[in-house]
Amino acid sequence: MAVNIKTAAEIEKMRIAGRLAADVLEMIAPYVVPGVTTGELDKICHDYMVNEQQCIPAPLNYRGFPKSICSSVNQVVCHGIPSEKKKLKDGDIVNLDITVIKDGYYGDTSQMFCVGNAPEHAQRLCQVAQECLYKGISIVRPGARLGDIGHIIQQHAESHFYSVVRDYCGHGIGTEFHQDPQVLHFGKPDTGLVLKEGMTFTIEPMINAGKYHTKLKKDGWTVETKDGRLSAQWEHTLAVTADGVEVLTARKDEQF
Ligand code: MF3
Ligand code: CO
Ligand code: CO
Repeated sequence: MAVNIKTAAEIEKMRIAGRLAADVLEMIAPYVVPGVTTGELDKICHDYMVNEQQCIPAPLNYRGFPKSICSSVNQVVCHGIPSEKKKLKDGDIVNLDITVIKDGYYGDTSQMFCVGNAPEHAQRLCQVAQECLYKGISIVRPGARLGDIGHIIQQHAESHFYSVVRDYCGHGIGTEFHQDPQVLHFGKPDTGLVLKEGMTFTIEPMINAGKYHTKLKKDGWTVETKDGRLSAQWEHTLAVTADGVEVLTARKDEQF
């Protein structure tokens, strides 16, 4: 595992990419309403990234992915493909995952949206998944270990009788979409890579209402829960600082 350490100048570039990715989520939020298609959301984000931000939507053509964002509705765990045929309806929950490339550096972030009035149980899943991300972030500092992050996320999810997806994980990020290390969202304290200042990676827990098992659809991308129950995910891109963490994709409504 070759984990690279970013210089201050590189972190500054990642700060810019991260801010742009966060801005896309803030921009798209008011459009996530009953009746909109995920294809329409993709087009609005694409045009914003390309025309307003002058950045590259990283998913587009990434290993053959056909769209500019991922949109994962209800039982879809991740990597949902936006479609003109997929209309959001009142009560759905949807994750929009935005990754931009600016000046050669990546910023990767996602959040859940409730469409109209989602049922209590769906809102609760989304909230606990966000808490899982925040708990993971809260312990990032030099000397902490990746297993500590996985452990605190797993503890929180399972204390609510949810499960943590095993098949997908967070990742190092920088001049490539996915770098070492792999950041698992489950694990044991005091195990795994020791964090150092200048590491940059994502935390992006996928939390299921039912069991953790997933299945890949025939389109080769869309990942669903095997049991068909709901799944929720939130993601930030982080940098390890001298004394803690900087959330490079923080939105205006977030305080770290
Ligand atoms: N943004 C996703 C992640 O968090 C990766 C999406 S790959 C794509 O790592 F091809 F589906 F866009
Ligand atoms: Co990611
Ligand atoms: Co992402």
